[in-house]
Order: sequence, then structure tokens, then C-alpha cells
Amino acid sequence: MAGTGVFAEIIEGEVYKYYADGEWKLSSSGKSVSIVNPTTRKTQYKVQACTQEEVNKVMETAKVAQKSWAKTPLWKRAELLHKAAAILKEHKAPIAEALVKEIAKPAKDAVTEVVRSGDLISYCAEEGVRLLGQGAFLVSDSFPGNERTKYCLTSKIPLGVVLAIPPFNYPVNLAVSKIGPALIAGNSLVLKPPTQGAVACLHMVHCFQLAGFPKGLISCITGKGSEIGDFLTMHPGVNCISFTGGDTGIAISKKAGMIPLQMELGGKDACIVLEDADLDLVAANIIKGGFSYSGQRCTAVKVILVIESVADSLVEKVKAKVAKLTVGPPEDDCDITPVVSESSANFIEGLVMDAKQKGATFCQEYKREGNLIWPLLLDHVRPDMRIAWEEPFGPVLPVIRIGSVEEGIHHCNASNFGLQGCVFTKDINKAMLISDAMETGTVQINSAPARGPDHFPFQGIKDSGIGSQGITNSINMMTKVKSTVINLPTPSYTMG
Ligand code: G3H
Repeated sequence: MAGTGVFAEIIEGEVYKYYADGEWKLSSSGKSVSIVNPTTRKTQYKVQACTQEEVNKVMETAKVAQKSWAKTPLWKRAELLHKAAAILKEHKAPIAEALVKEIAKPAKDAVTEVVRSGDLISYCAEEGVRLLGQGAFLVSDSFPGNERTKYCLTSKIPLGVVLAIPPFNYPVNLAVSKIGPALIAGNSLVLKPPTQGAVACLHMVHCFQLAGFPKGLISCITGKGSEIGDFLTMHPGVNCISFTGGDTGIAISKKAGMIPLQMELGGKDACIVLEDADLDLVAANIIKGGFSYSGQRCTAVKVILVIESVADSLVEKVKAKVAKLTVGPPEDDCDITPVVSESSANFIEGLVMDAKQKGATFCQEYKREGNLIWPLLLDHVRPDMRIAWEEPFGPVLPVIRIGSVEEGIHHCNASNFGLQGCVFTKDINKAMLISDAMETGTVQINSAPARGPDHFPFQGIKDSGIGSQGITNSINMMTKVKSTVINLPTPSYTMG
């Protein structure tokens, strides 16, 4: 159970502590932040409301800890990460329980998130050992005008203190996707979890403590974004920010100093369906891609662009599958669970009502109870409807019927997002042309968009983000190349 057993020390009374300098602490503010359970809409947990002074202290210790961590042999860093991964998996149950209560993630998916996170940490350790164990050796005489008098040796060095800000929908997995690369590369890590998801993150961080990471190397600071958000992201002690979330990321990038940024800010992933597509495969992927975790994934299918001649048939197949989705509490492992907050449910409802007023066809009756919204497919959506462009982050999915592939590509590219997209066709040549034409970070051919497997590159263009993620890219992003040039008094040619 969350907050018990090995996790008993991370809670005092009913309030979870924050983690700094290798210890679980109470904030000097004496205040806490409540975490509302999306299902019951009642306070489920409380976490510390940390102060700016506490942020300053965390930054100081992170800076000191990083210096000696960078001198820790790579194999030892990897060993500790493997240990943390094993401990995390061992304690998957209480962490998953927190995910169910804080963000209403279906019970089985919550466990999967923790296990996937353990695997991700181990992969970081493996990849880091290979990637950081080698550099480059360059000679000068390949550039015009040079003799072979200079040898350049390059290696990858850590950036310093990495600030990780994951979103509510994968608080554990998208935290470790930043923590693993940062630590293996020799950085220290300050984690600011989302409010909903903070308790799962605190448990996850404790697994790193149990693994024996040096004090101060990892910290987890909780609190109100309004009080410590800007203070953290603009803090002079931060050398890199890795953020996943919404529009806030755009504000962070505008305010951040001259430091590397890794940003993933959502998407409006289009699913383009051609006449020759296997419609059963498409329907199955629309259900998985559009409705898993109630559509609260940045890579969810968020608009279907289907060629008119097969639209009726596809809509019927999707409708039949929507009817089979179970709706209810995450504890029962239902397919559709309450969305994260009342404001989110209100926003989704606003998009749905706008579409209704403008003449969209509802394939199911619109139904909502509290934060629970029943799955809804909206047919005959037109570009003048908000839902054609905006990201609902909920179980509602628009269908736009298109007269040509070009029309579909045009809609996809007119979006301010550019995360992923997908195309369904049996013609690989057409699929490649469409993939090349789609202005998105990734295009999936004959499958729904998805970030994983977690070592694949993952990136968005336009408002969907900055930089590329995936384990290898994240390790590279959280390092800098350092060169040492050996200057010889006379040219030297090997075996010359
Ligand atoms: O919500 C954003 C996540 O990066 C999506 O990850 O494709 O594994 O669901 P996923």
C-alpha cells in the first residue's frame, strides 16, 4: 500500500514529504498542496508546499553532488541505475496504486507504466555505457591546408544540474525518461513532479534512494507551480530543462536562460485513412490510439481524416468497438476512466458542445458524470469546429471526411502541432510519400501513434516541441561534447 512498508518514511501524518539532500523533509512553509482524486473528486493525498528558499538549497546540493558523481566510474553509475530499476519493479504495486488514485489510470496500465519505467532505466544504463564509453578521434589533414599535426579527441561530458518536469499522464515513466539519461551521463537531477502524480513520483524517487544513490544527486521538490514554477525554471543553478506537458512549455522556453531545452508539448495526431486500407486494422488502432487512457496521451489519435468512399464503413466499425469499451473507475480497470480534473472535463465538454452546435454527427449519446466522460466519436466534423484543431485530451474523437489524400495532408500540416501522425494503406509507396509530406516528428505506417519502444527517437515540430527524446537522444542531449586537441611540432602519419 502507498506510504507503508519501505515507503513509511516518506510520509508524516497525512502529508508526503519532499526529498532533498538525501533526506525526506517537511517544508518550512508548514503548508501542503492537496491532490484531488479524479474519480471521487475528493482530496486523496497531500504533499509539501516547498518554498523558494528550499529550491535554492536543493540547487546548491545538486551542484555539489554532481561534481563527485561526474567522477564516479560509468560502470558504477550503470550498476546503481540497474539496482534502482529492480527496486522500482519490486515495488510496482504501491506506485501503481498511487497512479490509480491520483490520475485515474486504469489499474493494469498503472502497473505497466511502472514496469516500463524500470525497463527504461535499465536500458539507459546499458545505452549510456556504450554511448559514453566512446568518443571521436579526428586528424587535421582532412581539412584543406592542414598537415597531420593536430589530433582531436572528443568525449561527452555532463551538463550539470538537469531540471525534470514530467506531466500528469505518465508521471513516473516520463520522469524516469529524464532521470535515467541525466544520471547515467553524470548529471544531477532535480525533479518537479506534476501535482497529480506527485505521490507516485515520490515513491519512485525513494526507489532511487533505496538503491544507494549519493545524497543530493536526486531531489524531488513539490509545491504550487504559481509559487515555485518560474523560480525553478529560471533558476541560475539549472543547466538543462527537460519538460513534458502543455502550453506551459512554450512559456518556459521563452523565459529559460541559455541552456539546452528538451520540450514535448502535445499534439493533434492525425490518422489518414486511404481507400485501400484494412479497415478492421484501422478501427482497432483508432480504439487503441484514440481511447486508451481516455485519450489523455500526447500521442493519442486526435483526428481521423478518412477518404469519403470508405468513411461510412470505417465509422460503423469504430462505433461497434466503442460500444464495447468499459466505462467506470480505474480500480475496476475500465477502458474509459475519469479525466484528470473537472477543468479538463469542462474543456472537453466545451469542444463537444461547439461541434454539436455547428452540426457534427454524434455517433453515441454525449454523457458525463463528474469527471467521467463516455467515449464519443464525432462524425462529419468540419474545419470550422474547434475540435478539428484543438487537443481535447479526453475520450472524444472527431472524424473529418476528405475528398483526397492531399486534403488530409493539408489538414495535418495546417495544425500548429506536429508530434506524430499515422497513415493506413496497403500501398507502401503511397505511405512513404504521405509520410514525407506530413509535417510531424514521426509518422506511423499502419499503426496508431506511440512514443515507444522507449529507445526510439521521439520528437515534435512546431508547437509540439524542441529537440528529440528517446533514450539515446536524451543521453546525447544531456551531455556536451568536449574536445582536447594534441598539437604536434611536426606532421605524423601512422605507419608513414
Ligand atoms: O503523453 C505523452 C506521452 O509521451 C505518450 O506516450 O505514446 O507511450 O502513450 P505513449
